[in-house]
Amino acid sequence: MDRLSLTHPAHADRTEFDRNEVRIALLGCGTVGSGVAILLLDSASSISARSGAPYSLEAIAVREAEKPRAREIARELLTDDPQRLVADPAIDVVIECIGGTGEAAHLVEAALRNGKHVVTANKDLVATRGPELRALAAANGVTIAYEAAVGGAIPIVRTISESLAGEDILEVGGVLNGTTNFILSEMFAGSTYAAALARAQALGFAESDPTNDVEGVDAAHKLAILAQLAFRRALHTAQIPRLGITKLRPDDITLAKRLGYALKLIAAARSDASLVTPAFVARTHPFAQPVGPQNCIRVTGRSSGSLTFAGTGAGSAPTASAVIGDVVAVLRRIAAGRHVGSDASSASLAPLGPGLEPSIALRRVVRLESLRDARPAHAALAEAGYAAEAIDGVPAILTERLDGARAARLSELLASHHIAAPSVIPLWEDASEGA
Ligand code: HSE
Repeated sequence: MDRLSLTHPAHADRTEFDRNEVRIALLGCGTVGSGVAILLLDSASSISARSGAPYSLEAIAVREAEKPRAREIARELLTDDPQRLVADPAIDVVIECIGGTGEAAHLVEAALRNGKHVVTANKDLVATRGPELRALAAANGVTIAYEAAVGGAIPIVRTISESLAGEDILEVGGVLNGTTNFILSEMFAGSTYAAALARAQALGFAESDPTNDVEGVDAAHKLAILAQLAFRRALHTAQIPRLGITKLRPDDITLAKRLGYALKLIAAARSDASLVTPAFVARTHPFAQPVGPQNCIRVTGRSSGSLTFAGTGAGSAPTASAVIGDVVAVLRRIAAGRHVGSDASSASLAPLGPGLEPSIALRRVVRLESLRDARPAHAALAEAGYAAEAIDGVPAILTERLDGARAARLSELLASHHIAAPSVIPLWEDASEGA
């Protein structure tokens, strides 16, 4: 029987044993936070046994303490004063499940400055301020852990930062956003974009503002986090060349089917380039496999080869599972008398200048309106110095590998020859395929 239960008052029944326990505060009790609260309360004895450190969930900061909740949580645990918790000397670990870069950022910073370990699911925050927060944690002798920020329960953050710490990583990324993968899966099955987005929102995969999902910002946040770890570069979301799925048309889905490709939102980074873009993907490639809200993440190392991780990348339970994994890791380190410190050298991450970094050079499929345009389009591209080939029986041309700037000129160039090219979509190729 668990020592803590949903109705256990926070400070009741203190024993000699309890005084050695680690004290945890949870900030936020929404989709992810409520899943975390339930696991911490219901599974206290097994989590404590696995981590070697008994703990107590001391308080949960919520916006409205009196609001009715799907699952009864003892009123004594709830507070609407998160500032008090991050300043409270009795709190050892702060779990941040508020999200965003506003209040959550101030609270995480304050918690780290006050010497508390932080576990967060906040991808926006880690993507935009990760290097700085890791340096702050290291300076204060504490940990900031964020496995839940990327790919739900898929164990990718710790895999890159610990298991692959000695690896020369060549490429990282894949299908990192569940909402867009769900929308594209539905569109492949005949749904309209609008109907598919509405379903994704109703099912709870989408962000509160789904613009971040469909414009590729969410995928770019996750990619920035992975790239920071994989390449030790202070890559920020805003620097990643990014295109979402809002400009895709039903004709692009039709073209993918005719060519025998999947169409996915791919987010990928190499040591010197990155991008987020819809891309055609060979049906046999791992990135073509995720359906609905699933993610597929691949890390390719010089010695390790390609390692592929797949699973549900969004939702309360998988994300809460990743948070609890981080909590156990933090508790173990506290029990062993040491802090994580794996990112202690974050301050020395290679900085990037402002502005976009280079996009990964990929071949492009130029969709034409008519098969009759293929020959003149081919000639126009050749005249402008682009190597390209017609695709048999399909109104499309396949170019050589192009960087973002050269690819951006294609439609305009064809328009100047009175040839309509309604879309230009990259064809995904792994780093090992020789880009
Ligand atoms: N909106 C995100 C997604 C949630 O669709 O992947 C998980 O980060």
